[in-house]
Amino acid sequence: MLEIGTIRLRAWENKDLEHVYRWENDFETMLYSRGKPENAVSMDTLNERYDEDRKNEKRKQYIVEHIADNKAIGTAVIRLDDWGDVRIGNIGTYLDKEYWNHGIGKVITLALLDLSFYFMNLDKCDAYSIEYNKRAHKVLESCGFKRSGIHRKSGYVLGRRWDWYYFDILREEYMAIREKKIREILGTTDAERYISLTNKV
Ligand SMILES: CC(C)(COP(=O)(O)OP(=O)(O)OC[C@H]1O[C@@H](n2cnc3c(N)ncnc32)[C@H](O)[C@@H]1OP(=O)(O)O)[C@@H](O)C(=O)NCCC(=O)NCCS
Repeated sequence: MLEIGTIRLRAWENKDLEHVYRWENDFETMLYSRGKPENAVSMDTLNERYDEDRKNEKRKQYIVEHIADNKAIGTAVIRLDDWGDVRIGNIGTYLDKEYWNHGIGKVITLALLDLSFYFMNLDKCDAYSIEYNKRAHKVLESCGFKRSGIHRKSGYVLGRRWDWYYFDILREEYMAIREKKIREILGTTDAERYISLTNKV
């Protein structure tokens, strides 16, 4: 579990599936996160997926919770993969619509980077985002990701083809800006608390 700013990233529990069911059947959430607004997933499928994901060491799956009221407000994931000797974490997140545009996405992305590089010693993180998801691009770039590739016309959404953008950040790039980004994204008080917590030894 990791607490950072006003949120915590904790393990999924069976009880979270009712929220995930709502989020993964929501038109706008799936439009932006998957490029699949028509996504329809049953509770049975989610239960099966939950059982598989729980045992999968290569998938670090989190529920994002508001610390103040312990409310589940979204999900976050790091999918681990090796490219030869290079250890990569592919990250993803979505938030309940009610919480969009309040600065939480940047905190989640920072948390996923810190987990990947400061806690897990990965070499690189990457993320995919569809062409029209300008908010997500802004969040990734604000956290230090660079847009380093394009999968041209690889998604078909609402009547036309779209590019998928590929973003990445290397461990050394993140470590060079880590404390600056923590201060920038969390604000002074939360940043100092988090930096001191993560400098304990
Ligand atoms: C993407 C998501 C996680 C971001 O979280 P969030 O809390 O809404 O984002 P934040 O408030 O931290 O930051 C949003 C940034 O994008 C900017 N932004 C918002 N809409 C924008 C737009 N249409 N064009 C450009 N920038 C935009 C905001 O101004 C803000 O930047 P700033 O703080 O520098 O001004 C969240 O919106 C979400 O769950 N969206 C649906 C699912 C999704 O897109 N998942 C990501 C898939 S890659």
